Amino acid sequence: MEVVILPDAEAVAALAARTVAAELRRAERPVLGLATGSSPLGIYAALRGIVEAGELSMDGVRGFALDEYVGLPVGHPESYAEVVRREAVVPLGMDPALVRVPDGAAEDIEAACADYERAIAEAGGVTVQILGIGGNGHIGFNEPTSSLASRTRIKTLAAATRQANARFFAEADGASVPTHCLTQGLGTILEAGALVLVAQGEHKAEAIRQAVEGPLSSRWPASALQLHRRATVIVDEEAASRLELADYYRDTVAAKPDWQRV
Ligand code: F6R
Repeated sequence: MEVVILPDAEAVAALAARTVAAELRRAERPVLGLATGSSPLGIYAALRGIVEAGELSMDGVRGFALDEYVGLPVGHPESYAEVVRREAVVPLGMDPALVRVPDGAAEDIEAACADYERAIAEAGGVTVQILGIGGNGHIGFNEPTSSLASRTRIKTLAAATRQANARFFAEADGASVPTHCLTQGLGTILEAGALVLVAQGEHKAEAIRQAVEGPLSSRWPASALQLHRRATVIVDEEAASRLELADYYRDTVAAKPDWQRV
């Protein structure tokens, strides 16, 4: 795992966007793995700059979101279908017909999940997956104790996740946040060609420590990144504040030859 510690959220977003752009550019069938929440917003803004500068074309790029709430009406502004459309598809000029989000309104949830897995496989797999991380260590909505081999399925959201995401909904106490979601599994996420996880802020520091330096354990689902050969974790100083080996990560990045820099 490559760990890059940068001074602030802006620098995190800029490097993550450059990394994602480089992966998409060299892919024969580029497929972007989309995350929602606040962490990746800077990445989408920076990617837009790269596209507008003519350094990346999103023509023909497919997209798959990590997750979706269950039970929100179609078009709800906080449904991830809407968030993905608003924050990524429109600003990046992606073709909406090429972008999919798990169907949280499906009558047959199991069939919808199987169909989602099939669609990812038919697209040739995700080229590069953007990830945020929950304070409890979830990626996607794979809450603690999720199987490291899990596939797209329905999950119950942890109380801490509903509380954290309440800020996006009308009521601030978490009561209006759906109780369930569909999420790509850890096994699904691990099949992406490259993973780029970003985290900003002190409230993510423990989850980052456990993901990067803790034991591989479903207790901290993001520790599954340790199984991936091409995982990059890009964090600001605050999110890095509990990393025991921070100096080593800094030395490693500083010692990189130019040709390895994105
Ligand atoms: C969202 C997702 C989640 C978030 C995580 C962090 O698609 O999969 O894992 O990345 O909950 O959320 P923020 O970025 O809002 O702190």
